[in-house]
Amino acid sequence: MASITFRNVTKRFGHTVAVDNVSFDVADNEFFCLFGPPLSGKSTILKLILGLEAPDSGEILIEGKPVNALSPAERNVAMVFQNLALFPHMTALQNVRFPLVERKIAEDKIKARVASVSEKLHIGHLLHKLPAHLSGGERQRVAIARALVRDPAAYLMDDPISALDARLREETRVELKRIQRELGHTLIYVTHDQEEAMSIADRMAIFEHGAIRQIGKPSEIYDRPASQYVARLLGAPAINLLGIERGDGVSAGSGTIQLAGLPVPDGAAGIGIRPEDLKAEPWTAGRAGVPARVYEVEPLGGYTVVTLSAGSEKLRVLMRGQPKVAVDTDVAVSCDPRKIHYFTSDGLAFSPAGTGA
Ligand SMILES: Nc1ncnc2c1ncn2[C@@H]1O[C@H](COP(=O)(O)OP(=O)(O)OP(=O)(O)O)[C@@H](O)[C@H]1O
Ligand SMILES: [Mg+2]
Repeated sequence: MASITFRNVTKRFGHTVAVDNVSFDVADNEFFCLFGPPLSGKSTILKLILGLEAPDSGEILIEGKPVNALSPAERNVAMVFQNLALFPHMTALQNVRFPLVERKIAEDKIKARVASVSEKLHIGHLLHKLPAHLSGGERQRVAIARALVRDPAAYLMDDPISALDARLREETRVELKRIQRELGHTLIYVTHDQEEAMSIADRMAIFEHGAIRQIGKPSEIYDRPASQYVARLLGAPAINLLGIERGDGVSAGSGTIQLAGLPVPDGAAGIGIRPEDLKAEPWTAGRAGVPARVYEVEPLGGYTVVTLSAGSEKLRVLMRGQPKVAVDTDVAVSCDPRKIHYFTSDGLAFSPAGTGA
């Protein structure tokens, strides 16, 4: 498998800048996610790697070698276009063989390759069965085997499981992650589902308007988002973002949340607090915390999302279990100050030290 590098790559379609001066390095055997909203340039990145589109400027390298001048065939990168659904009239074996048969690979090579992939994916005992006789999870393993049966320099997947229902999507992404780890393939994976990106990627690149806004491990980006844009994209329910006001003291959220005594960096124009970092407790006289009123409660089994109104702001709090919180009662909201993210008026993050980034 191979590393893939972009150096200052730009791709325009007429006046649209689909990919805007993008640089990244995907390591050998890495599971790398491209994540961003629709039309942010994710698919174009894959087409540039495949050689289906040529960059206007910049350089693309596979295994350290420039490939700008190479045809798609010479690059030997495999794209998994279709979603991971099997052909129902073919056995698992015929399904897995299909990409090799289609490419007219020699029969002995097909046999060896199918045997190797089947062993690694533990599907040898399923190969004689039709998809209808496999469980959902078994079907997905076979489908992944078919996607991975070729032996290219890297695999590219463009939202491969978005068409599956939620339950199967969860199962499949676990299998994909496990299999990628076992086989050690370089995999570049596009998704617009933040949970999928967070759960599956070794590292991810977050796109906006064709440009990368942040690259890193999902947990690092979640804990230290480089901007409000990135902070908002990751996490459900979404991070609470409030404007900072400076008058008698420093406060946020139209004056509802006093920030006195906190290390608010000079020039901070907004704060962000993740719902799981807020605490809401029944209001009692003398209790520390910001007063708020319970607006709505969404019990979700293992946790509960409580929406509060504080002044003119809405705050979302994530609580464990199913706490007894009644609508229209008063609560005190508090938060560990170290969990507060500060942003400039341009929406960029201050560094954790509060020195300004
Ligand atoms: N062949 C093309 N001709 C003209 N414009 C294109 C072409 N391909 C992509 N674009 C434009 O480039 C931009 C990026 O598109 P791209 O398909 O890469 O986004 P994406 O992130 O994959 O979106 P989605 O999540 O909807 O699949 C968009 O503005 C799109 O309209
Ligand atoms: Mg796309």
